[in-house]
Amino acid sequence: MIDFPATGFPTNRMRRNRSEESVRRLVAENRLSVDDLIWPLFIVDGVNVKTPVDSMPGVFRYSTDLVADAVSEAADLGIPAFALFPYTDPARKTEDGREAVNSDNLVCTATRAVKAARPDVMVVCDAALDPYTSHGHDGLMKGEEILNDETLEVLVKQSLVQAEAGCDTIAPSDMMDGRVGAIRQALDKNGFQHTRIMAYSAKYASGFYGPFRDAIGSSSALRGDKRTYQMNPANSDEALREVALDLQEGADMVMVKPGMPYLDIVRRVKDSFGVPTLVYQVSGEYSMIKGAVDRGWLDDRVILETLLGFKRAGADGVLTYFALEAAQALNT
Ligand code: PBG
Repeated sequence: MIDFPATGFPTNRMRRNRSEESVRRLVAENRLSVDDLIWPLFIVDGVNVKTPVDSMPGVFRYSTDLVADAVSEAADLGIPAFALFPYTDPARKTEDGREAVNSDNLVCTATRAVKAARPDVMVVCDAALDPYTSHGHDGLMKGEEILNDETLEVLVKQSLVQAEAGCDTIAPSDMMDGRVGAIRQALDKNGFQHTRIMAYSAKYASGFYGPFRDAIGSSSALRGDKRTYQMNPANSDEALREVALDLQEGADMVMVKPGMPYLDIVRRVKDSFGVPTLVYQVSGEYSMIKGAVDRGWLDDRVILETLLGFKRAGADGVLTYFALEAAQALNT
């Protein structure tokens, strides 16, 4: 840094660079664009079905025949990527979550529909069992224990059926140890060397996932909590170790989740590793903001403000339920 002569006010006036829109635009350090957005979508059984998620006003579950239209509309606005999550009929949920490896399940069917309509977009599918297990956990259970290594075998099969369906980005979201490496090896062995892995690397045991669990119908099922596998919100160094391990195991991009309460983690990850770093503005963050905006307690400008905050913290991209609204606002 150059040593400035000690002048200060009134020679220096910080407000000069804020006085007009033109200069404010010129000196802006960060920018949010549609290129930064990933839109998470929920999929449900049926034909021509679009049902609202009660705890997420403005968010819907789409049947597999409608999801491609929703994606197309968003892709036309420039959104590059979409994450698909299933609402699985409770009748198809089992202790072992075997619906996860059914190549005709909702996520695989939706992936085929989306890629057929829009081969140009990136489809992201979670590798995790919670939408499919009767107990709502991300892993297999033995008594009250969440089994790690046994779960990996199912995650590998789940990733392969998703890749076969056309998914270009597998997103292990369950926080089992070793899952990125196991999935990478299996993808490579089966001809999917180009399928990427977006690792939910620093995923915290958060209260902000509540509305998502309603959206995929796992909240009523969930026994206990996820603190034996998701991270303790008290920890930050541990997030760096998680990211380092996922990169060693072959992750192409890493993610921090939730978003707003964990901006410090985003910054540390980006500074420490310099790899593509994503952040997930999760369901509870969406509902909190949307609820206040709908009541007139907050102006809707807070939506873009939160997304820009992620960019400033170092994120390269954001998963957000506001993606469509944000893209519309950015395009006008
Ligand atoms: C499942 C998964 C969760 C989310 C994404 N994938 C929930 C959880 O871990 O309980 C949360 C997303 C959100 O809240 O928007 N493994």
